[in-house]
Amino acid sequence: TSGSVLVRMRRILSTAVLRHIGLLGTIPPSHASLTAGQQRVFALNFYRKSTSDGTTMDLSDMRKKYKGDEDCFEESQLVSLDPIKQFGNWFDQATKCPEVGEANAMCIATATKDGRPSARMVLLKGYSDEGFRFFTNYESRKGSELETNPYACLVFYWEPLNRQIRIEGNVERIPFQSSCDYFHSRPKSSQIGAVVSRQSTAVPNRDYLRQKNAELEEKYKDTEVPMPDYWGGYIVKPHLIEFWQGQTNRLHDRIVFTRPKDGESEPGEFQHPAEGGWVYQRLSP
Ligand SMILES: Cc1cc2nc3c(=O)[nH]c(=O)nc-3n(C[C@H](O)[C@H](O)[C@H](O)COP(=O)(O)O)c2cc1C
Repeated sequence: TSGSVLVRMRRILSTAVLRHIGLLGTIPPSHASLTAGQQRVFALNFYRKSTSDGTTMDLSDMRKKYKGDEDCFEESQLVSLDPIKQFGNWFDQATKCPEVGEANAMCIATATKDGRPSARMVLLKGYSDEGFRFFTNYESRKGSELETNPYACLVFYWEPLNRQIRIEGNVERIPFQSSCDYFHSRPKSSQIGAVVSRQSTAVPNRDYLRQKNAELEEKYKDTEVPMPDYWGGYIVKPHLIEFWQGQTNRLHDRIVFTRPKDGESEPGEFQHPAEGGWVYQRLSP
């Protein structure tokens, strides 16, 4: 039953923690020696005697120390009033932060035409004043949702920096040639992988994919892999970019840039002009 699976999982996690602290643990592990995930497991299993009644996990005590008030993110600390440049600044810091495994991993939410949302991770493959680019299968679930409802929301979360960026915008396919150039810049095995995978469709088993992969490897042994027409890039053209900096005292900083459409109303009471047709304001956390 799911209850006994949970009990077993807890036992395994606890065993892992006990093993980490030298079995019966006279010395708790130093935080520096644990990954963020291990720290959480440790906190859940070591400091709390019981986190679960067997069916539900109680995570109400699970919270992490963010920054002190002196580290808060003031408007004066924006490196630019152009939110793409500000994004670049935070993105560069995330890529340089050794604890951030994949700084360009982002969650993208799309929705069906009647508004049912879905979300998944993809990799950011470029950004500019025009927008944020990623590559995928145009016939995947996200692809078909974007074809009928061309709006998306992106979220980056860089936990070690306590930072989140949210981007909303309309989405367009990038030019065919740009997709082709990127497709052929990838390792051949990735190109074949993209051809093999009719992303988001059901397959009988893993062997089916393995076999198809082997067939295509043979077929394109000595030739270039043609980019399938169901694969390519999208660009999210932002009309909202929000920067969130977590603070220990929960007075998190939220600065949101929006780009009013031509002819849209006057800036609001707390809205300030920014660059490139953007305005910004601070939101309550
Ligand atoms: C870190 C990470 C990066 C990913 N990057 C991509 C990507 O760049 N493009 C992509 O199509 N899928 C990527 N995936 C897989 C997607 O999350 C997802 O499984 C796939 O695109 C199918 O989604 P869909 O059925 O909602 O369309 C990534 C997954 C993870 C966890």
